[in-house]
This record gives sequence, structure tokens and C-alpha cells, in this order.
Amino acid sequence: MSQFEKIAEGKALVFVPKEKKVSKKLPVFYNPAMKLNRDVSVLLLNSLDKKDMQIALPLAGTGIRGARLFLELKKGKIKSLNINDYSENAARIIRQNLKLNKIKTKKITITRKDANMFLLESSGFDYIDIDPFGTPNYFLDSAVKRLARDGILAVTATDTSALAGTFPSACERKYWAAPLRNELKHEIGLRILIRKVQLIAAQFEKALTPIYCYSDQHYMRAFFYCEKGKHRADEIIEQHGYYENAGPMWLGRLWDRKLASAIAKQSDERILRIIAEEAGVNTVGFHDIHLMCKKNKISRIPKTKDIMKEIREKGYGVSETHFSPSGLRSDIPQKDLLKLLSKAF
Ligand SMILES: C[S@@+](CC[C@H](N)C(=O)[O-])C[C@H]1O[C@@H](n2cnc3c(N)ncnc32)[C@H](O)[C@@H]1O
Repeated sequence: MSQFEKIAEGKALVFVPKEKKVSKKLPVFYNPAMKLNRDVSVLLLNSLDKKDMQIALPLAGTGIRGARLFLELKKGKIKSLNINDYSENAARIIRQNLKLNKIKTKKITITRKDANMFLLESSGFDYIDIDPFGTPNYFLDSAVKRLARDGILAVTATDTSALAGTFPSACERKYWAAPLRNELKHEIGLRILIRKVQLIAAQFEKALTPIYCYSDQHYMRAFFYCEKGKHRADEIIEQHGYYENAGPMWLGRLWDRKLASAIAKQSDERILRIIAEEAGVNTVGFHDIHLMCKKNKISRIPKTKDIMKEIREKGYGVSETHFSPSGLRSDIPQKDLLKLLSKAF
């Protein structure tokens, strides 16, 4: 085990390959930058009123997410935990990691199949976590086919260069939409990703409503709640459309407000607190205060808390946004915000 080191994340200990740089070429990944990604899975499943879940991790890597779900989800949540990865190394490391955490249970199965085969050969799951390196596209069909009614689908995309508009043709090809290359690029990219997943599900008469999502560092992440039926699937598609020249994309809500608050309450991560606030303001896009000041030659940029107070006093909703440190999410019209920014605070 000399090429491995032992680390702690959440309540789990894991053996991880001693590689300094995370890359697709590694046989098995442990990416410390994805700790938040795994934290949110735990927090979200603990916040939902769901018990006896059949959980699937088709692309499990080192198995750290599996170990954490087993150790950190509340009692009664897990009926079965199905950990899969096609790499031979992964299956071995997953076993070692479960042993390291003294996890011995009939509830867990470890398989070494192609993720699509693993999903399609199953009878279905209440939670499926698609956490690939790059685009989730390859796995979406089988994931939505095997997602149960009232089930939760989690999707990670790390190909942000396509979604956030560095390579517009890649976004068209992979996500069937035009991205936006400005300060809103991450929110628009996330909305484009959401629509793509929803379209795949709609083919099978499944309606996927986003309940929680975010963009962080090099990836985007979305959680969906699944309902079955043509009518609901059509209602989802009706909420697709354009923002400026970008899209089509999901124009509906990004968060379930109660869920976002419940998640934030269980953690002291700043990003989760900001998301809980922005879940209360339903807009597509946000105002970039620094940029507005620059464009309009306003030399003294007012303090965020002062502008927020003024916006509230005018009767509009407002919050910070996790998409940008200089952004404010608000339903105030741009011209009214500009008037506020122009006056001396
Ligand atoms: C980003 S890593 C997963 C990280 C893991 N979910 C975590 O939270 O630490 C992606 C994993 O998917 C596996 N993988 C890639 N393509 C696959 C496929 N078609 N079927 C099964 N596993 C696959 C790789 O071996 C790799 O371990």
C-alpha cells in the first residue's frame, strides 16, 4: 500500500493514491476539491424526507462517497448501497476502504461493470449519483431510465469550458444550446446542463425538477426530483427558453427554498449559506455590481450591504449569489439599480 496514503473526509477514512495531480489518466481518482460535492450529497439526502433508499454510485472511484453515505446518512435512510466502477483498481480500493472504515454490511454491493450496464441491469434506484470526469452525457439515458418515481438524480459536469462558453461549438454539440461568455456564464451553463438532462428524461416521460444546484471551481452540479407522466414532462419543457442570445436553457427555479435552508443549517460552508439566500430570489441571472459601476463610470463602488439595504427598502428581493463575488441576485430592474448605484451612499 506504499503508493497509497490514508486521509480523513467527513466521518470516513480512505486510502487514496498518492498522486499529486488529479487526472483522467489515473486509474482511480480521489479529488479533494470534490469534498464539497460529497458533503452536499450527504446533507441533501439527510434533509429529504426519504427512507429505505436504494442508492446507486455507478462511477464510484475510491468509494469515498459510498463510505461517507453509509457512515453519515441518518438511520433508516439506506436500504441498499450499490457501489460500481469499471476499473479493476477501483473495485479493490473500494473494498479496502470499506474495510478501513470497519463497514461490514449486507446492504452494500460492489460491482465492476460499465456504468450503463450496471444501471440497465438493475431494477432501479431512488438515488443515482452520476459523477464522471468530464461530461455526464454518456450516462444520462440509463440513469433516467432506472430512476424511480420520486427518486433523486445527481449530476456532475466538469466540462465547464463547454458549458461556460470557452468553446461554444462544444456546448452546441454536447448540450444543444448556445452558451454565454460573460459574467453570467456559470449560471447560464448550469441552466443549459439542467435542460439537457431534462430533455433526456422527457423522452421517457419523466419530469425532472431541479431541487438544488450550484457551480464551484471546475464543476457544475445539479440534483433533480423525478416525477412520472407526459403532462409533467411537458410542463418542464415549457420552462425552457432563451436568455439574451444564449440557450435554450432551463428558466425555472434552481432551488427548492426549504431544502436549501435545511442544507445550509447543517453546515458552516459559506457557499451553502449564500445559496440558501439566493434560493429566496427567483430570477434568471444577476447584476454584477462592479461591472455596472465600471460601465457607467461610477467611481465609488458602494458597499454590498448598503446596496442590498437600499434595494430591500424599494420593496425588491435581493441576495448575494454564489456564482460571483460581485454579483447580486435581485428582481430590481437594471435601470432602477443604476439609479441607486449612482447616488452617493
Ligand atoms: C470522477 S471519478 C469518480 C469520483 C467519485 N464519484 C468520488 O466521489 O470520489 C470517475 C470514475 O468513473 C470511472 N468510470 C469512468 N467511465 C466509466 C464507465 N463507463 N463505467 C464505470 N466506471 C467508469 C472511473 O474509473 C473513475 O473512477
